Amino acid sequence: MDTPARLAAIKARLAVPAVAAPMFLVSGPDLVIAACKAGIIGSFPTTNARDVDTLDAWLARIRDECAQVAPWAVNLVVHSTSPRFAQDFACVLKYRPEIVITSLGSPARVVDEVHAYGGLVFADVNSIPFARKAVDAGADGLVLIGAGAGGHAGVLSPFAFVPAVREFFDGPIMLGGAIVGGAGVRAAEVLGADFAYLGTQFIATSESLAPQAYRDMLVAANEDDILLTPHFSGVPANFLKPSIRAAGLDPDHLQTTGRAFVAQGETRAWKHIWSAGQGVRAITSIRSTAEIVANLASEYHAAETKV
Ligand SMILES: Cc1cc2nc3c(=O)[nH]c(=O)nc-3n(C[C@H](O)[C@H](O)[C@H](O)COP(=O)(O)O)c2cc1C
Repeated sequence: MDTPARLAAIKARLAVPAVAAPMFLVSGPDLVIAACKAGIIGSFPTTNARDVDTLDAWLARIRDECAQVAPWAVNLVVHSTSPRFAQDFACVLKYRPEIVITSLGSPARVVDEVHAYGGLVFADVNSIPFARKAVDAGADGLVLIGAGAGGHAGVLSPFAFVPAVREFFDGPIMLGGAIVGGAGVRAAEVLGADFAYLGTQFIATSESLAPQAYRDMLVAANEDDILLTPHFSGVPANFLKPSIRAAGLDPDHLQTTGRAFVAQGETRAWKHIWSAGQGVRAITSIRSTAEIVANLASEYHAAETKV
């Protein structure tokens, strides 16, 4: 099957063309399985499993429970400094996910072996030069992360990003960045993407690994509470200001050195300083993943018929 045929086959298995995007310390097997059973692509970063034996057990469970439902994906950090890459990738190859999403580096490290078992490689990129490099490295698809996204956000508006990438790439595109609701999913398609890539909306679910205080903070937050800063991760990422204040820091006066903050005393980036995207206002309660996906699907179909 060629890539367009595979894309059509994947979409036919979905209730709505969306992905529950991988999130460090947030997405685990419960969220992946709930997402796939509800009819969207579920995913998680391998680094959320504390060791390779746990990863093996998670992948076995996901493979068994998602055999008859939507496709699932793993996210691999492919940066050359990633200490877990080799062991995690070996484990991923054992379970053969239909989709492997690479981040923080070139997808070249995984392309041949994922293709050998019939999988597709999507490369997460947040700029046009990185998109070009990923295509040249053999990625089947791209994950375009635009402005306003949770995690390591880009700076490009999706209105600029997608058409610019479509000038040189006609393969599958997932688009992320503050997408909320089914109209946003439809808008991503109208713009030229194939799937919407939603992270933040799935943090405040009953199936996520996020602590209760993080979910509650998301329910209370709006876009004014989001700070794009390189302070905590070394590269720009969106974080919740209330979590920065709770750690005893002033989000308006961070002394950014250019090096990642990583940890200060007991405080750790991502674990205590929490990330969210600009679409946070749409989170008004803690819901099940199934409920979110059902809403996405009905809003998506309503948006399809709008002129
Ligand atoms: C808490 C959090 C952790 C994230 N961790 C990862 C990660 O480990 N790997 C990755 O590729 N992207 C990660 N992301 C980015 C998401 O996969 C996705 O690109 C982003 O959430 C989409 O934007 P949205 O949150 O506005 O929907 C993370 C995002 C958040 C909010």
